[in-house]
Amino acid sequence: MKKKIAVFGTGYVGLVTAVGLADIGHDVFAVDIDRTRVKDLKKGYLPFYEPGLKKIMKTVITAGKIHFSSESDKAVNRSDVIFIAVGTPPLEDGRADLSQLRNAVDCVIEDLDSSKVIIIKSTVPPGTIDALKELHSAELESTKSEIVFCPEFLREGTAVHDFYHPDRLVIGSDSDTAARIVDDIFFPVVGKRDVPVLKCSPVSAEMIKYSSNVMLAARIAVMNELAEMSETVGSDIIEIAAGVGLDSRIGNSFLNAGPGFGGSCFGKDVSGLVTAAAARGVELGLIREILTSNDKQRLRPALRLEKAVGSLRGKKIAVLGLAFKAETDDVRGSAAFDVIEYLTEKGAQVKAHDPLAEYNFIRDFKKKGYSCTELVEDALKKADAAIILTEWKEYRNLSPECLAGCMKGRVIIDSRNIIDVNAFRSEGFTVFGTGMVEVKPKLKSRNRSDFMNAAIVSM
Ligand code: UDX
Repeated sequence: MKKKIAVFGTGYVGLVTAVGLADIGHDVFAVDIDRTRVKDLKKGYLPFYEPGLKKIMKTVITAGKIHFSSESDKAVNRSDVIFIAVGTPPLEDGRADLSQLRNAVDCVIEDLDSSKVIIIKSTVPPGTIDALKELHSAELESTKSEIVFCPEFLREGTAVHDFYHPDRLVIGSDSDTAARIVDDIFFPVVGKRDVPVLKCSPVSAEMIKYSSNVMLAARIAVMNELAEMSETVGSDIIEIAAGVGLDSRIGNSFLNAGPGFGGSCFGKDVSGLVTAAAARGVELGLIREILTSNDKQRLRPALRLEKAVGSLRGKKIAVLGLAFKAETDDVRGSAAFDVIEYLTEKGAQVKAHDPLAEYNFIRDFKKKGYSCTELVEDALKKADAAIILTEWKEYRNLSPECLAGCMKGRVIIDSRNIIDVNAFRSEGFTVFGTGMVEVKPKLKSRNRSDFMNAAIVSM
């Protein structure tokens, strides 16, 4: 049933949620304190790249289903439901910074004039919702309002897809009525597709969010350490991922070794959980190690290059990929920072390329000694070696002939195992993938999905 909804925060989570809710039939007021951003959003300009979002946003703006504003009071008074999806970035000591969340909740509580459901989507430490309910118990009681937690599981680069195809809807609420309202709001993407709906306490829902990201981060950290082992014993991490992934209890997604996980969530949520536990006298030693292990991986592509070509001083190195993953312009937590800093400190001349993230990288990386190029060929021209850090389709499809024509040297560090090694070997290249030593031409193509199919077919 159509609801009047306010969404506080128009970042990666808030904007996708606001546009998606408008598109599935609700009347949405998206609120942000950043007036410039609100102005841009009204014109249909996106503050970041997210595949498919621009088109849907234009549709719902034209249909008058979404309004952008900085006036929080108006948004609260006209809405039955208020989503809060503001940032909770990590503080120096790893704890989650809840200042934006508290400000947004204070704004909403101040303007509460009737019974409303306040849905927190921001990732918060366990116990946050209960503390907010305690703090504002008088206003909540007097207006018969409720605060619930409804974690988001959106991935950058596929956030629009993830909004319309959630694996589950988790509702952390002490009130059945409020939980039913949340369930109702998402019915068009949940009810119609029989998506599991888990109703639980707010603190369990907060822990489900943290635990999901911890499990995903751990999976990647384990695969990256197995990759390190593979490079010494001569096994092949793609074969290991295929074999392990065939175990129905493990499954075959999220087993790709690489230069360590990046992004704004895994690191933040792992350290957020570890510090929240430590504050309660609980030492999460194994979970804490995920970050130590991951930090080690980020420099490995540069170290493998140094081992392959010797001294880096004066060498021309092409670094392909600055975004923390493909299909995003977000560079937060990208291994490119570690790799380019190391190379330039060792005296290499670095030319970097990324289809989308160049501007954000230059904005955030203040070191000297490197430059960015518009075209991938310009980064590769006369390069002694190349390092692939992000699994962009453009790099997956690089032709060996093109690189042989552009580059001076014949060494490639493919940290994402995405190029067809056999084709490059036949052009005289030595390719070092993550988790393999020297790739023997065992299968037509070395990328993982082809291998997976070949392996399974041949069983
Ligand atoms: C993550 C969670 O997946 C999502 O559910 C949560 O809501 C937010 O945090 P995101 O960080 O946007 O999403 O992207 P994700 O696809 O999870 O990738 C995170 C990092 O892990 C990237 O650096 C990616 O390259 C890396 N990764 C992912 C691997 O190295 N190997 C894999 O197999 C998968």
